[in-house]
Amino acid sequence: MEIIIADDYEEMSAVSASMIAREIQRKHDLVLGLATGDTPVGTYKHLVKLHQTEGIDFSKVTSFNLDEYVGLAPVHKNSYNYFMRENLFKQVNISPSKVFVPQGNTSDPEEYCAWYEQQIKLAGGIDLQVLGIGGDGHIAFNEPGSSFASRTRVKALFEQTIIDNSRFFERAEDVPRFAITMGIGTILESRKVLLIASGEKKADVVAQFIEGPVTSQITASALQLHSYVNVVLDKGAASKLKRKEYYNWVRDNKHLVQKQIGR
Ligand code: PGA
Repeated sequence: MEIIIADDYEEMSAVSASMIAREIQRKHDLVLGLATGDTPVGTYKHLVKLHQTEGIDFSKVTSFNLDEYVGLAPVHKNSYNYFMRENLFKQVNISPSKVFVPQGNTSDPEEYCAWYEQQIKLAGGIDLQVLGIGGDGHIAFNEPGSSFASRTRVKALFEQTIIDNSRFFERAEDVPRFAITMGIGTILESRKVLLIASGEKKADVVAQFIEGPVTSQITASALQLHSYVNVVLDKGAASKLKRKEYYNWVRDNKHLVQKQIGR
């Protein structure tokens, strides 16, 4: 796991967007896993800018979103489908036929979730999965106690998540109680992972998932089992990490490793 500590939200967003852009440049038909929430808004803004100014080309990219609220139609203003269209899809040249966001108002969630998993497989698997982290330590809507072997399924939202996400709804009672979410097993199969987090309110869970034990109570800690994870934090989100100096040293001295092994 490589930890990059940016000065602020703006820098965190710019760094994460350029990491995504680099992967698209390396592989034009990248399969990109995408996240929603407040955290990636800045990253998507920077990606749109890179599309406009550097010609980052999304035409061959396939995307799979992590999750969606059960019961919300894709046109609903609080749906993640709507969020993605407004914040990214409308502003880049991604092909609508290559965009996958779980359908919250499906009539048969179980069959739909199996189909979603199948689409990921047919696309060749996810090359780069972008993640945020919830106040309860979740990745996607894998709430505390989720199995590390879990696949795309319907999950009941944890109280903390409902409180956190009620800011987007008129009343807390309007927050859906269930979501379709990729599982931890699904996420762990991505070839690369990029987790972003911002603000002091995330500092405790960030420290727990990076420096604490692997536990289903903080589902992001499952990423300790993955071989390629970049974590981009701002100073607030990094404020409770014990080994900050070490992470900064590693980031600044990567070139020494290359020298040591004679590359
Ligand atoms: P946030 O949500 O970016 O709105 O904080 C993150 C998450 O719940 O994964």
